[in-house]
Amino acid sequence: MTMQAASTEIASRTAAIIDEMKGLEGPLLPILHSIQEEFGYVPKDALPVIADGLNLSRAEVHGVVSFYHDFRAKPAGRHVLKLCQAEACQSMGSDVVAAKVKQLLGIGFHETTRDGSVTLEPVYCLGLCACSPSAMLDGEVIGRLDDEKIGEIVAEVRS
Ligand code: FES
Repeated sequence: MTMQAASTEIASRTAAIIDEMKGLEGPLLPILHSIQEEFGYVPKDALPVIADGLNLSRAEVHGVVSFYHDFRAKPAGRHVLKLCQAEACQSMGSDVVAAKVKQLLGIGFHETTRDGSVTLEPVYCLGLCACSPSAMLDGEVIGRLDDEKIGEIVAEVRS
């Protein structure tokens, strides 16, 4: 697909989502979530379509997308690993865990390994504070991260 065709495709799929959801109260966030579900990220080409559809400025839409950590600007890798960085996990060493994972994978937060195997993201509380430090791998929560579990997770996303 040419770039032009891809951006037309994104615009038309985005317009269909907006049509379906713009009647909701406070439609911007649900629309952005649906777009991320549809494409796996929020494409840049979708932003002007959303702004026009909801009568907002492009800056407003861009501001919301960049404010929320949930929205990705690029497609994710085959696995998505989220490391909790909220308070309870912080107090149990989540920054040390994050540093180790980053070193093992060779990427930082909001990055994807070059082979496309994994995207690393911070998350702010997974509701698993009693078992901190916690993570989520492809939607499954993992508690009490230690060196062994980190090694297993990294091996799994690399396989
Ligand atoms: S603070 Fe990490 S799970 Fe709640």
